[in-house]
Amino acid sequence: MKIIRTARFMAAWSERLRRKGVTIGFVPTMGALHDGHRSLIRTARLRCDALVVSIFVNPSQFSPTEDLSTYPRPIARDRALCLREGVDVCFEPTAQTMYPQGFQTTVIVPALASRWEGAARPHHFTGVATVVTKLFCLVRPHLALFGQKDYQQATLVRQLVHDLNLGVTIQVCTTVRERDGLAMSSRNIYLSADERRLAPLLSRALQAGRRVIKGGMRDVAAIERIMRQTIKQAPAIHVEYLAVCDQDSLEPLSVVADRTVLLGAVRIGAIRLIDNLLVQIPGKKSRATRRSWDQGA
Ligand code: PAF
Repeated sequence: MKIIRTARFMAAWSERLRRKGVTIGFVPTMGALHDGHRSLIRTARLRCDALVVSIFVNPSQFSPTEDLSTYPRPIARDRALCLREGVDVCFEPTAQTMYPQGFQTTVIVPALASRWEGAARPHHFTGVATVVTKLFCLVRPHLALFGQKDYQQATLVRQLVHDLNLGVTIQVCTTVRERDGLAMSSRNIYLSADERRLAPLLSRALQAGRRVIKGGMRDVAAIERIMRQTIKQAPAIHVEYLAVCDQDSLEPLSVVADRTVLLGAVRIGAIRLIDNLLVQIPGKKSRATRRSWDQGA
């Protein structure tokens, strides 16, 4: 496995392989790799000839009050995982490589970036959109894989790839969960034992929402109430949002439609957790399933 740290070497490697007709798969990450990343890497490995994983803790997607300086960076463990999984290149650019002196350009996807996570973290998605675009320009993948856990991020990446004709196929893979339903995330290690016990309530709330929708409930206010009730049993959890939305625009719905996603974010102590579930209305074949989001419902 090669470790590449500069933009020039990364671009040259990709150019050489593309000329030979090799298909390049790409899993962008911020490191602290867990089983969710492993499943993206394995899927990409099966679908492409060559595989690049980037490890870059992107400063521009953190606000000044967030955890940039303490974000976990177990680089030796991450490289070992990549090696075991047959990754060809670990791209580990420095901040100077990604944002050299004089860097000015940002990529903004205004509507998708402003709601939900974007409302709580105002510059977050501009940082994500900019870094993902730059990574795509350097790695030049045919296929890039993202986890469904970050549903809004995946939707925004799809949108920018479409708008800018980047020519990258985006595959969004099913959220990998702990046995009790908690969605895997590099930040779960911050949870204390008590917080960890409460954390699965977020996925249980979403499941409760999905259950009543499948049972025929269509009134969004009632569904949101049911999701909140699941979490009310734990006063230590603060709900930021539990919303019934359109799968593409992420606009809140007033009545459940056939392309619905349930989005949730909670705070437990200092930790924010996010999760989501796609809902397929019984009897309707969702376009989402056809467009190969891995998880239907
Ligand atoms: O999901 C992440 O790990 C990051 O937001 C990404 C896509 C690697 C961009 O920094």
